Amino acid sequence: MTNFYRKKNVAIFISGRGSNMMALINDMKSEKYHPGQPKLVVSDNTKADGLVFAEKNLVETFALDIEKMEDKLIFEEKTLQVLKEKNIDIICLAGFMKILSEKFIKSFSKPILNIHPSLLPSFKGLNTHQRALKAGCLIHGATVHQITNKVDEGPILGQTLIDITKNSTAKQLEEKLLPLEHLLYKKVLREFLKESGKKILTIN
Ligand code: GRF
Repeated sequence: MTNFYRKKNVAIFISGRGSNMMALINDMKSEKYHPGQPKLVVSDNTKADGLVFAEKNLVETFALDIEKMEDKLIFEEKTLQVLKEKNIDIICLAGFMKILSEKFIKSFSKPILNIHPSLLPSFKGLNTHQRALKAGCLIHGATVHQITNKVDEGPILGQTLIDITKNSTAKQLEEKLLPLEHLLYKKVLREFLKESGKKILTIN
């Protein structure tokens, strides 16, 4: 019997450490029947630590530093070419610190997911842990969502929740949340690629 099953080609975009990227790559590589395979890691920073892990794990990388506005246009154009060459089906943004242009999102025309360290729609943008503390929140978390043209917006695919205990610092919140982000992103990506429509909620 012919098997028409094809794994989806996943590209992961990073700017630095890449721990979420590592979690996604490890998950895809460890499960024979995972619906996705890591095909490409893209970075706007040629010195991103995560690139070393990707290369060691034989995932192709494409990196180009963005320093000026013109660089971003070149980065996006070249990235689109590579995505096409590699037949990429989906992009996962994982600590990617640049905002992709509307033109890029339209030209790619396939799904782009993102992980954001807050319970969206609260605390879009940067310094989410500090802002959650300052607002006196009792809960905090992270969200994986599909991206649109607006920053940190788009359909929510999964969220992970933590409680904020008295005298917590932003650093402590970050450390508590990061491993949960990894679990969340792995689960969301699997369900999304399976097209199950299932959303993920984890409470810790
Ligand atoms: C994570 O907290 C992620 O939610 C945010 O940036 C951080 C990236 O960490 N978008 P890493 O590069 O995945 O380790």
